[in-house]
Amino acid sequence: MDNRPIGIFDSGVGGLTVLQEVTKVLPHENIIYIGDTARVPWGNRSEEIIFKFSLQIADFLAERKVKFIVIACHTASSVALPLLKRKVKVPILDVVSPAIDEVLLKTKNLRVGVIGTRETINSGTWRRKLKEKKTRLKVFSIACPLFVPLIEEGLFNHKATEIIAREYLEPLNIKKIDTLVLACTHYPLIAKTIKKIIDEKVKLVNPGLTTARELVKEIKKRNLFSERKQRGEIEIFLTDAENKAIGVFNKILGHKFKVKIMKADLDKYD
Ligand code: DGL
Repeated sequence: MDNRPIGIFDSGVGGLTVLQEVTKVLPHENIIYIGDTARVPWGNRSEEIIFKFSLQIADFLAERKVKFIVIACHTASSVALPLLKRKVKVPILDVVSPAIDEVLLKTKNLRVGVIGTRETINSGTWRRKLKEKKTRLKVFSIACPLFVPLIEEGLFNHKATEIIAREYLEPLNIKKIDTLVLACTHYPLIAKTIKKIIDEKVKLVNPGLTTARELVKEIKKRNLFSERKQRGEIEIFLTDAENKAIGVFNKILGHKFKVKIMKADLDKYD
């Protein structure tokens, strides 16, 4: 038994889609979430910068004595996972590895689309991990760099988002995919818009769901469940706690959760 919190991080608000899934399967756990709202988006940055930001945040969480870290960001998971595992002395779970089997179970015609940030797609991590398990699989990857800024602005069902989404996603319809991976934790927030454009037979995969289930398995394996009987507390740290970001947080989480929002300063982790 272990009453320490679980740490979850993302470049911004997208990781809340993972946090929501985690609270469903682990309702008695305390959670510390940190979103790097001062420096989002990360997805257009170099590997070196993504390493630096990810390590700073992992150190911030380790200092708060978290028992587990969930990287609720595909960009950081795709680029910085091996580095974080080497450098941080807290068990870590990424959002890519837990979802590979689910994608392979869903696809029947072995034609899969993957959409993510530029760095997630350029890293080739999704393609590599999928093809390692099924070499015959055809993977069609598309970077959608404008989605994250639109989502951080709270424009989930907005016509601007739909116009951009058509540019990115319509070419996928001629590839005859039957499964599409939302390889960015921000994208489930615009799933409705994505569904309008993608062929209706295509199944969407939200890796946040399998990540939450995998976290339960890991916590069980290590005997890390909390003894709490009441709902756990959620603390949210933002690196720039301006009103706009807080508004978007409320829009995503609604008023279901009692959350404390605080400002995080990462300068001292340089
Ligand atoms: N939610 C992050 C991801 O899953 C967005 C990255 C970004 O800030 O560009 O990749």
